[in-house]
Amino acid sequence: MDYVIKNMQEEHLSQVAAIERASFGRGDKAKSYEIWSEQSYRDEIAKDNSVNLVACQGDEVIGYCSMYTCLDEGHITKVAVLESHRGKGIARNLMDTMFARGAELGLKFYELEVRRSNEAAIALYTGRGFQLAGIRKRYYTDNGEDAAIYTMEL
Ligand SMILES: CC(C)(COP(=O)(O)OP(=O)(O)OC[C@H]1O[C@@H](n2cnc3c(N)ncnc32)[C@H](O)[C@@H]1OP(=O)(O)O)[C@@H](O)C(=O)NCCC(=O)NCCS
Repeated sequence: MDYVIKNMQEEHLSQVAAIERASFGRGDKAKSYEIWSEQSYRDEIAKDNSVNLVACQGDEVIGYCSMYTCLDEGHITKVAVLESHRGKGIARNLMDTMFARGAELGLKFYELEVRRSNEAAIALYTGRGFQLAGIRKRYYTDNGEDAAIYTMEL
């Protein structure tokens, strides 16, 4: 499967938002803070301290990853892949491309939070070198789930 990873741009936003809803939607209990809208991504790509990547197969967006930076730290906020394309290394490739961008920016430390039950994401993160740094109890207000904080220091 051929795809390219590039910077997220306006033309990608409606597809990114659709993957976002499919990946993070939790029915009626969904909390708006967790599902970023098309406008949220529009705001994000306009920021100087934000890196936003998409994986594209032709004109189709099949995955994306977002990060904001502060000094030499990067906070990974989102990574998602179209359900039909999961398990093929696309998220791994997106994250490694993000780290290459981070290296260009001089980043030395990465942080993210994830639902404790999200085994796929945790496998992705620990496989890239992240280590469990702590737990935020009942962080997700829709179901009271804990957040696991993962960090990686270079
Ligand atoms: C998490 C997610 C991004 C992974 O995307 P993906 O493209 O399927 O992941 P990859 O194929 O690149 O796999 C990366 C690693 O995670 C592991 N992994 C992926 N899916 C997995 C699963 N369901 N169970 C266990 N491990 C899994 C792979 O084995 C792989 O490990 P490796 O690097 O040691 O080989 C995808 O499942 C997704 O979009 N989930 C919904 C959104 C989400 O929860 N995002 C994370 C929170 S922001």
